[in-house]
Amino acid sequence: MERKILSFLIIGFICLDIFSQDLIHSQENSLMPVGAYYYPEHWSEKQWERDIKRIAELGFGFTHFAEFAWSRLEPKEGQFDFTWLDRCVALADKYSLKVIMCTPSPTPPAWLTEKHPEILIVTEDGFQVKHGMRLNVNGMNPIYQYYVKRIIEKMAEHYGSSSVICGWQLDNEPHYEGLYDYSPFVKGQFQRWLKNKYTTIENLNKAWGAAFWSYEFNDFEQIDLPNPKEHNNNPHAKIDFKRYSADAIAAALRFQSEVLRNKISSKQWITTNFAYYKFLPSVDLFRSRQDLDFASHTMYLLSTSLDYPKGNLANRLGSGMELSFSSELARSIKGYTGIMELQPGQIDWGAWNSQPLPGAVRMWIWHSFGLGDKFVCTYRFRQPLFGAEQFHKGIMEPDGVTLSPGGEEFVTAIKEIKKLSLEAERKSEIPIELQSRSTAFLWKQDNLMSLETVKLTQQWDTWEHYYTYYQKLKTMGVPITFIQESDNFDVIKYPFMIAPAYEMVDNELILKWKKYVEDGGHLILTTRSGMKDNNSHLWEALLQQPIWELIGAKVDCFDQLSPDEEANVFFDGGDYTWNVWGDQLSPFPGTKIWGVYSDQYYKGKPCIIKKSLGKGAVYYIGVISKNKDLEKRILRKIYQENNAIILDLPDYFFVEYRDGYWVAVNYTSEAVNAPIKDRDIIVLGTKLVPPGGVVVWK
Ligand code: GAL
Repeated sequence: MERKILSFLIIGFICLDIFSQDLIHSQENSLMPVGAYYYPEHWSEKQWERDIKRIAELGFGFTHFAEFAWSRLEPKEGQFDFTWLDRCVALADKYSLKVIMCTPSPTPPAWLTEKHPEILIVTEDGFQVKHGMRLNVNGMNPIYQYYVKRIIEKMAEHYGSSSVICGWQLDNEPHYEGLYDYSPFVKGQFQRWLKNKYTTIENLNKAWGAAFWSYEFNDFEQIDLPNPKEHNNNPHAKIDFKRYSADAIAAALRFQSEVLRNKISSKQWITTNFAYYKFLPSVDLFRSRQDLDFASHTMYLLSTSLDYPKGNLANRLGSGMELSFSSELARSIKGYTGIMELQPGQIDWGAWNSQPLPGAVRMWIWHSFGLGDKFVCTYRFRQPLFGAEQFHKGIMEPDGVTLSPGGEEFVTAIKEIKKLSLEAERKSEIPIELQSRSTAFLWKQDNLMSLETVKLTQQWDTWEHYYTYYQKLKTMGVPITFIQESDNFDVIKYPFMIAPAYEMVDNELILKWKKYVEDGGHLILTTRSGMKDNNSHLWEALLQQPIWELIGAKVDCFDQLSPDEEANVFFDGGDYTWNVWGDQLSPFPGTKIWGVYSDQYYKGKPCIIKKSLGKGAVYYIGVISKNKDLEKRILRKIYQENNAIILDLPDYFFVEYRDGYWVAVNYTSEAVNAPIKDRDIIVLGTKLVPPGGVVVWK
C-alpha cells in the first residue's frame, strides 16, 4: 500500500509540472478562463469598442482575432494593412482581454486564387474548388506556402512580442474541404512520398501486393491517386494515400509553426483547433505532437451526426461522450488542452438544428472544466448578419447588444468558475481512487485507416467500437489518456491499458505489451487485434498467430451475422446477444475462459478469455455485443478483480476531477444521483442532478 501512495505522489508531481501551465493569464486568475471569437471585419468600426468592452464586462478573459481575415490583412498582393487589427488589439488591451491571434491561411484572398488557381484542391469528382470556400487550398503547395509564409511573418513581426497576444492558432480545423485533395500537385507529392517510403518500385509492388490483379508498376510516375470514384481496389494503396494525406496535413501545420517560432516570443504558444475526428481519418493529432505547444479542439455537441444517448432530451443535451473523448484525446498530445470553439447555442448547419435544453450550454462549460481544460472559447461573440452562418447563435443576439440564452449561460458559468477558482487549493495530487483506475488507450491512427479501408462486414464501424469501450470506461469514472506505441507503457501511471481492434502490430509492440503485463499491467485487447503487420498484410501464419502466446489462445476463425440475425454469448451467469463479429478461440492450458457462445454450431466455444502473465493479465474480448452491456460487464469485472475503485454511472452521466473538485454533469434525460459521500462538501448544485445539470463537490 505504501508503495502505491508513493507512486501516486510521484504522479502528482509530474502532473503539477504539466498542469501548472496557465495558458491564458487572465486578469482574475480563473482556473479556466473563458473567451469569445470576435471578427472585427464583420462589424462597423464604430461598434468595436462597445463590443470589446462588453466582452470584458461580461467576464470573458480573452478574445480571438483574424482567423479568416487574409483579404483584409493583405487586400492586394504585397500590400499589408495591420492598422485596423492594431486598433482592435489595443482595445482588447484597454479592457484587459488577452488575444489568441490566428494565421489566416484557410481563406486565401481572391487576388491569390485568381493568380494561382493551381493551389486550389480538387475533389474526387475532378472539380477544382473555387474561390468562396475555405480550407480550399493545399497547405503543402510551395506557391501557396510562399504567400502563407509572407503573411505569417508579417503578422509575427507585428504581434510576436505583444504581451496582449497569449498565443497563436494555426489555420482552422485542419483538413481539406472534401477530405482529400486529388489535384495534379498531390499526385506528384504522393509519388514522391511513396518513393521516399519504398525507395524502389519493386518494394512498393511488394508492399502493395501489386501482383494481385496485375496492379504492378514499372515506375513511380505511373501511380495514380486512389480515387474512390475511379474504383481503385487496392487496400494498401488506399491506406498509403490516407497516411500520405495525414503526413501532408501535419507537415503544413509544421511549416506554419516553424515560420512563427522563428519570429515570436517564447511566451506566446502555438496551437491549432482540431475537429470532427470521426469524419477526418487523415487528421492525426499525434502527427503534430512535436510541432504544437498543445492541441486544442472544437466542440459542436448538437451536431446531428454525433453519437447521442437515448432519451427524449438527448438531442437538446448533446453528445457529452464526444466532448469527453475529444478533450481527452487532445489533452493526451501534450498533457493539457482547451476548447477553442464551443457552440454558444443553436447552430445552423446540422441536418436539423435543435435548441439546446436551457442549462445545457452551462453544463458543457462545466464538463470541460471537469475534464481539466485550460480554457474554453466560444464561436462566436456576435451572431453574423451575413455570410454562410447567418443563423448561428452568438453570445449576442443579432442586434449586438442583447445577450442570447446561451450567452446568459456563458456569463453564469464564468461567474461560477471564477468564484470557485478563488477558493481552490489547486491541488496537485490525484485522488488514490482515480489513480487506481487510470487507463491508457493505445492509439494508432493508421489502424483506423486500415480498419475503415477493409471493414469486412457492412456492420463494422471502428468509431463505434472505440466509443463503446471509451463510453463504458467513463461509466466507471475512468480517466483516460491516449498514448502511442512509442510512449512509455508505465504500469504505475496506467494500471490498465486498452487497445481496441488493434489490427496492425509488430514484434516490438507485442514484446512491449508482454513486459507491461509482466510488470503488473492489465491489457485489454479485442477482436481483430494483431491480424496484420504494419503494411496491412496478413501474417504468413495462422489467424492472429503472433498474439496467441500473449492472449493465451489460438484464434480459430471469426464469424459475422446479417444485421437482422442474432446469436448469444454466455458470460458471468447471463446471456448477451451479438451479431457484428464473433471470434472463436481455443484457449491454451492455464487460460481462464470467461465467456462462451451459447448457440450456433460452435455452441460452447470460448470468445472471452483471461491469461495471467507475471504480475498482470491480458484479457481478450472476441465478440461485439448488440447493446454493449456485455462490454460494460466485462470491464467492470476486470477492474474490480484488480482492486480498482470504480464508479457505477449511467451512460452519459460523467464524473471528472480537477484541482481538488469533483464535477458531475448529466446528459441523460432523467435525474441522476451523483456519487457524493456524506463527508463531501457540495459547492455547486445538488446531489440529485437534473438533465442538463451540474454538481461540484470536494
Ligand atoms: C466550425 C468552424 C467555425 C465555424 C463553426 C460554425 O466547425 O471552425 O469557423 O464555421 O464551425 O459552427
